[in-house]
Amino acid sequence: MSGHTDMVLVDEKGMRIDGRTAEQHRPIKIEAGVLNNADGSAYVEIGKNKVLAAVYGPRECHPRHLQDPTKAIVQCKYNMQAFSVSDRKRPGPDRRSIEISKIISEALEKVVLTELYPRASIDVYIEILQANAGTRCAGLTAASVALADAGIPMRDIVPAIAAGKADGHVLLDLNKEEDNFGQADVPIAIVPSTDEIVLLQMDGNMTREEFDHAIEMAVGACHEVYDLQKDALKRRYSKVQKEVSGDEQ
Ligand code: CDP
Repeated sequence: MSGHTDMVLVDEKGMRIDGRTAEQHRPIKIEAGVLNNADGSAYVEIGKNKVLAAVYGPRECHPRHLQDPTKAIVQCKYNMQAFSVSDRKRPGPDRRSIEISKIISEALEKVVLTELYPRASIDVYIEILQANAGTRCAGLTAASVALADAGIPMRDIVPAIAAGKADGHVLLDLNKEEDNFGQADVPIAIVPSTDEIVLLQMDGNMTREEFDHAIEMAVGACHEVYDLQKDALKRRYSKVQKEVSGDEQ
C-alpha cells in the first residue's frame, strides 16, 4: 500500500491491468468437502489466490485454560505456506498471521451456534497455498464453507471480499499490484441474511464518499460470493446423496 507508483493500474477507459472493470471481482471457484480426514473442508480460488480450509470439532478445547463453560470457542489458524508468495515466506506464525487468525475467529464466532457446545473448541485451519492479495477474505470464505461441510450448526455462512482504491479509483477485489501500489484496501465480511458486518479493516486512506462506495460494492459482491458458497455446498450434498444411494462409485 505505497500509494506511489509509475505503474498505470487503471487506464483511461477505466480498465484494470487484469482486464476487469472497477466493479468486477476476479473469477471465483469454491469446492466443499475436498479432504477426507477433516470433519469438514473447502477449497477456494479467487483469481490467483488458492486457499484450503479444514475444520475439526466440536472437540475438547486445548489449551484447557481457554475453555469457556458457557460456549464453544472458534480457534482459527491462518497459515501462509512458504511457497505461497514469490519471495519464500519464513514458515511459522508471525504478527500478520496471528492477527488474521484472530479476526477470522471473531467473524466466525458471530455465526456459529457456539452456545450448543460449552467447553468445546471448533478448530479451523486455513492454509494459503498461493497468495495474490485478498487471502484473508478467501480464507474466511473457505472456512465458513468448511464449517457448514462439517455439519456445525450456524446461523448463516460468511462471505468475504475486499474493496479498495488504486490510481484514484474505488475498485472491487484488489489484486496484488493494486494492493501493493494502491491507496487503500478494505476487506469486509458479512452475514448475508442480515447484512451485518462481521469483519471490516482498512489499510490506507480514502474519503468518506469513497469509503461508502467501497462498502456498497463489497457488500454487493459478498452476496455473489454467498451464492457460490451455497452452490458449492449443494454440489457437495448432491454428491453425498448419490454415494449413499449407490448411484456413484
Ligand atoms: O492477503 P491479504 O490481502 O488478506 O493480506 P495483506 O496483508 O494485505 O497481503 C496482501 C498480499 O501481500 C498477500 O495476499 C500476498 O500476496 C502478499 N504478501 C507477501 O507476498 N508476503 C507476505 N509475507 C505477506 C503478504
